[in-house]
Amino acid sequence: MGTKRHFRVWRGDDTGGSLQDFQVEVNEGEVVLDVIHRLQATQTPDLAVRWNCKAGKCGSCSMEINGKPRLGCMTRMSTFADNETVTVTPLRTFPVIRDLVTNVNFNYQKARELPAFAPPKDLEPGEYRMQQVDVERSQEFRKCIECFLCQNVCHVIRDHEENKPAFSGPRFFIRASELDMHPLDTRTDRKELAQAEQGLGYCNITKCCTEVCPEHIKITDNAIIPMKERVVDRRYDPVTWLGRKIFRR
Ligand code: SF4
Ligand code: F3S
Ligand code: FES
Repeated sequence: MGTKRHFRVWRGDDTGGSLQDFQVEVNEGEVVLDVIHRLQATQTPDLAVRWNCKAGKCGSCSMEINGKPRLGCMTRMSTFADNETVTVTPLRTFPVIRDLVTNVNFNYQKARELPAFAPPKDLEPGEYRMQQVDVERSQEFRKCIECFLCQNVCHVIRDHEENKPAFSGPRFFIRASELDMHPLDTRTDRKELAQAEQGLGYCNITKCCTEVCPEHIKITDNAIIPMKERVVDRRYDPVTWLGRKIFRR
């Protein structure tokens, strides 16, 4: 038999909404998403929430829990004090569709704007060969589950709708960085694109993105800062930069 806990859940849609209070049973070992599912099953069947894997791998259940961007399925109830109210709200940076479900189209739009992987034209798929060291270098970025928690927390767009057209956000800085490190990518201007098209210059290295990443990707240290440094490098010494890109292949 579980214990009763106090939950506050944001209910509403794009026209507005408010926090609604619930007393709900919580059992040992449960996560926030379990409790939301119990609310759906017992008290409020029309509560909208997006989820899929319940294993921290699909990136669907992103929400804000006590004001912090988290995955609902990876946030254990045991991390809260017994008498603590748990407040669950939708991601703040994206428009609400209903209750805890937001419209994350912004991110798909930014993904489309990023020029795709461009392998040499004379290589067919299946003929690509990479050194293990190059595979390992970008492996960290491939762990991204597209939960968009990093996008949601970044102050550049969190309360600044006006910056959205010019800023792609940390998830797409790691994608640009991954392609920049890829030995078979023929584009040599990934860093310049990040600066000119993705709004890399807006980032002032607050590292909030890195702090919330459930995959522990070192977004700022391993993608953003090296790209910023190399953009500066190239401005001062283009020959060194070009040499570095060529000899790394
Ligand atoms: Fe989520 Fe991390 Fe990917 Fe950002 S980089 S979308 S926080 S997994
Ligand atoms: Fe935003 Fe991350 Fe930079 S939170 S400001 S992209 S370090
Ligand atoms: Fe898939 Fe939470 S339900 S990450």
